[in-house]
Amino acid sequence: MARGILWFKSRLEMKLFSIIIVIVAGFAALIFLTIQKETDDLLKKTKEQASFLSSSVITSLQKDMMEGRADMARWLIEDLKTMKGVERLQIIRTDSTEAFQDLRTIRDVEKRTAIKKEWLENHPDRANPIAKGIDNPLFKDTLKKGTTEAVEYNERVEGKEVFTYLKPIANEPRCFGCHGSDKNLRGILMVSIAVDKDIQSIRWYVIITSVITVLIVITFMRTLINNIILKPITHLVDVVDKISMGETDKKIDISSNDEIQDLADAIDRLRISMKMAIEKLYKR
Ligand code: HEC
Repeated sequence: MARGILWFKSRLEMKLFSIIIVIVAGFAALIFLTIQKETDDLLKKTKEQASFLSSSVITSLQKDMMEGRADMARWLIEDLKTMKGVERLQIIRTDSTEAFQDLRTIRDVEKRTAIKKEWLENHPDRANPIAKGIDNPLFKDTLKKGTTEAVEYNERVEGKEVFTYLKPIANEPRCFGCHGSDKNLRGILMVSIAVDKDIQSIRWYVIITSVITVLIVITFMRTLINNIILKPITHLVDVVDKISMGETDKKIDISSNDEIQDLADAIDRLRISMKMAIEKLYKR
């Protein structure tokens, strides 16, 4: 019988295996593309969510501000921070501090107009409230550029993958009465949404199950190829070798009900004719 090639017992096994490998590789590519597409779709959905949330927040904020309810805007932001999936939501002033955390803006507004007592009610009034995520180069760029164009990027927050959406808030003429006209921007709204953990675990789940499936399929196919094709052929080669050496008594014992059995039957007929021919020869 043929020598072993690599870890294959025979050349035939290697050929059959190549076919299986091609099929498995095709499947792997298909799975990979599916995961890729699913990830893209999910990211697109997250982006749309962030952009929609930002527009709503800014519209509400402007409305509250124009109605003289800066406190309502503060509560809105406070409430949205606890929303599910929102990792970070803050309005960052142009000096990188977080808005609505200290009284600096109220003190500034006070120079132009009378302040309202609601604005101060339950105000956190923290000292030096530096905003989070301000070290990201893309954030710094957005702040420097000073336009109202939205910017988006992915980053890691406390080990979690998040999608961050920045929307600068313009200082419009209608805001000047309280805020003055010296700045182009009133601040930047930053919304960071957790990238769905599911997609990451799905990715690993698919990779691990694929590898296990491939290993099981390969082991199973090896056994199958061995039992259905290789063993009977090896047996036939043995038998034919023996017949060629004159051993014509043993019946070939293969009942696989396929072409290999046809071959075995044909060889058995050959054995019988040879046996008869040899007997005839001896009788003379
Ligand atoms: C009636 C006065 C008033 C008007 C008009 C007003 N605001 Fe304000 N705004 C405030 C006060 C007061 C605060 C500070 C609230 C606090 O710190 O709790 C504030 C804070 C803000 C903040 C948070 C950033 C910071 O600098 O502290 C933004 C952003 C903002 N306003 C945007 C606007 C925009 C945009 C307009 C115009 C569409 C506007 N405001 C009009 C009173 C006003």
